[in-house]
Amino acid sequence: MPRSRRKLRVLHVAAEIYPWVKTGGLGDVIAALPAALAAAGADLRLCLPGLPALLDAARENEVVRLATPFAVERVRIGLARLPGQPPAYIVDHPAFFDRPGGPYGGPDGEFPDNHRRFALLGWVAAALAEGADPGWRPQILHGHDWHAGLAPAYLKARGSAVPSVFTVHNLAYHGLFPAARFADLALPPEFFAIDGVEFYGDLSLMKSGLFYADQLTTVSPTYAAEILTPRYGANFDGLLQARAGVLRGILNGVDPTVWNPAADAALPRGYGVDDAEAGKAVAKAELQRRMGLAEDATAPLFATVTRLTPQKGMDLLLAALPGLIELGGQFALLGNGDRDLEEGFAAAALAEPGRVAAALRYDEGLARLIYAGADVIAVPSRFEPCGLAQLYALRYGALPLVRRTGGLADTVVDADDDTATGFAFDDETAEALLGAAARAFAVYRDPARWRGMVWQAMTRDFSWAAAAREYLTLYRELAPT
Ligand code: ADP
Ligand code: GLC
Repeated sequence: MPRSRRKLRVLHVAAEIYPWVKTGGLGDVIAALPAALAAAGADLRLCLPGLPALLDAARENEVVRLATPFAVERVRIGLARLPGQPPAYIVDHPAFFDRPGGPYGGPDGEFPDNHRRFALLGWVAAALAEGADPGWRPQILHGHDWHAGLAPAYLKARGSAVPSVFTVHNLAYHGLFPAARFADLALPPEFFAIDGVEFYGDLSLMKSGLFYADQLTTVSPTYAAEILTPRYGANFDGLLQARAGVLRGILNGVDPTVWNPAADAALPRGYGVDDAEAGKAVAKAELQRRMGLAEDATAPLFATVTRLTPQKGMDLLLAALPGLIELGGQFALLGNGDRDLEEGFAAAALAEPGRVAAALRYDEGLARLIYAGADVIAVPSRFEPCGLAQLYALRYGALPLVRRTGGLADTVVDADDDTATGFAFDDETAEALLGAAARAFAVYRDPARWRGMVWQAMTRDFSWAAAAREYLTLYRELAPT
């Protein structure tokens, strides 16, 4: 029987969306995946918190005002059109969301009421699934990371028949709160249990998503297998093993309209596959100037663009730096986060002026110049659910040097033949990283081989359309039409 082609109505729930709200790859995914699903024929809508950047970006029309357990007054739900995006429900509750700072915290650290802020988001999403907007009702609710983790719990608490999908972008962020906060969530008391939102005595919003969603996904096949093990499972491996039958890995993509070296305003000169060598040479010189590195076209320029957290393995890179410099390389870092790592890279830059440079901030334009101007982008992560940095590097013709884990293992080809696109290592040691770097140096000294790898890298296809097809298949299994 031919499958029905009626459009499936899906509601995506998330805390970030590029370019308005982004702390990492999640923002990029939410800007691209729902739009790709809409392009593939889904009737898609977003549900987002009313953060200042989103309120500024879109004029929204009020759809409904909801009485919720989280505020005395009714909460206004608007429907907005962010440019290039499917329609978005905005949870407009200024007391929770209209604050200076990022989506999760301000100058004084994480917001202390994050459990209530994201409970409201999940609660509203569940209410929409149950028909709060008379004009549109989803057949599937799809939440992302702990920020949306309570949505499936609220669906179950309401006895909803709407199935839910929960995507893990990073298991390391547990959305953890003291048990006493559970009372603020307006969930039935029995939900605070091992078979529920309780996690080693605390409340975990990630656990809520993992336990209550009908289907689980994560952002690469290798990470989907890794998180079933104690080493990568972040203490959720037992639960994930029990739910392995409903867990699958679907690789993220790259949005070619956002990441395109031929039309990137942050670059001194656009380039494509055919003039990559010339275009990248101009970008490299500009990058060396901007970062205070010696303007040396022949020194292989390694770089990393990253959050500085234990996940990213940048302590290994710091330890490998002297060896990298000794081999004749340069290194540029763009990143911020952990104090120790920031100080370590700042000290390395002081010790090796002209050879090591560190910009300890978030800077979208500089990130793009780095992907274009660097020869090698190092991503030595201890774990990496998918990783977008290496995908952007491939597209911009910088060869990734990665630890073989998670999405890095699924997207970078280290081979002896002409399919190779980068360099990979296994052990979590500076020596292993340096070993891979030494192989990069060897290829760099052979321009024809290097050009071949750059061509391979730039022509690899990581399309969102392919990911969208896989999600649609999964949706149709959950909600046959
Ligand atoms: P994660 O989501 O774990 O941080 P990803 O590789 O999936 O890792 O995505 C990181 C995204 O954030 C990429 O788009 C990367 O370019 C960007 N990014 C990270 N740090 C910075 C920074 N300091 N300045 C600009 N962009 C950054
Ligand atoms: C997380 C992961 C990263 C992934 C991103 C988008 O932040 O750390 O590996 O690419 O989410 O899915």
